[in-house]
Amino acid sequence: MPELNLVLLGPPGSGKGTQGERLQEDLRLPYYATGDILRAAVRDQTELGRTAKEYMDRGDLVPDEVIVGVIAERIDSPEAVDGFILDGFPRTEPQAEALAARLAELGRGLTGVLLIDVDDDEVVRRLGGRRTCEENGHVFHLEFNPPEKEGVCDLDGSPLVVRDDDKPEVIRHRLEQYHAKTEPLVDYYDGQSLLRRIDGAASPDEVGAEVERTLATLRLEADEAI
Ligand code: AP5
Repeated sequence: MPELNLVLLGPPGSGKGTQGERLQEDLRLPYYATGDILRAAVRDQTELGRTAKEYMDRGDLVPDEVIVGVIAERIDSPEAVDGFILDGFPRTEPQAEALAARLAELGRGLTGVLLIDVDDDEVVRRLGGRRTCEENGHVFHLEFNPPEKEGVCDLDGSPLVVRDDDKPEVIRHRLEQYHAKTEPLVDYYDGQSLLRRIDGAASPDEVGAEVERTLATLRLEADEAI
């Protein structure tokens, strides 16, 4: 079976993490979410975490040169030979170019870029109600996906917290950063015929079903290309 190298693209709070968790289970591929990787580094007080924290707290992107190496290392690892799911990377054109260059060096390329799209008002609604598991980053929503027991993760029992960057003023800034720096990647990948648009405004199950249909098409196209 051809390798499946996927990117999840979309504004903050569009549901990339929600769908990424499902995909990881369904496809059994390594899932690299740069936000989760950086938050773990902040928690562990590594050099990467110390560098990233001030940017993340403000809702700014961390510098390209900091994040590119983090992802290159993972793509090069043996666990990613059959494919990978990237969530939150690339987020700028230089990051996209660095990714393409590294994959080309390995004789590989992206299979598809799934744009999970929602409008700004929905982003604010979703991030305002998000609760995240402190230990492993599992994601809930007070209204749309509440945990069985208030304040406790269904999956690992750890406390659910509000992310530091889910405060209203930081959410607005993250959205501005998305429109200025990340949204241009929509045209970038569309120009390479890699972009697949998913309506992220539907329920998580409906979005998941659309993602599955899109992947089935991508797999067919990849098979035909062999
Ligand atoms: P990151 O953690 O990647 O944040 P983000 O892209 O802003 O995305 P989010 O995690 O906020 O949202 P999501 O799309 O995963 O939505 P979710 O599934 O949680 O990055 C954080 C920071 O790290 C950045 O600001 C930056 O500083 C830094 N960083 C990371 N990568 C970087 C890079 N490449 N370069 C530079 N800096 C980088 O869903 C949101 C909520 O909605 C949840 O509560 C969920 O339950 C709910 N929900 C999900 N789907 C639905 C649905 N269909 N209907 C209703 N509710 C839903």
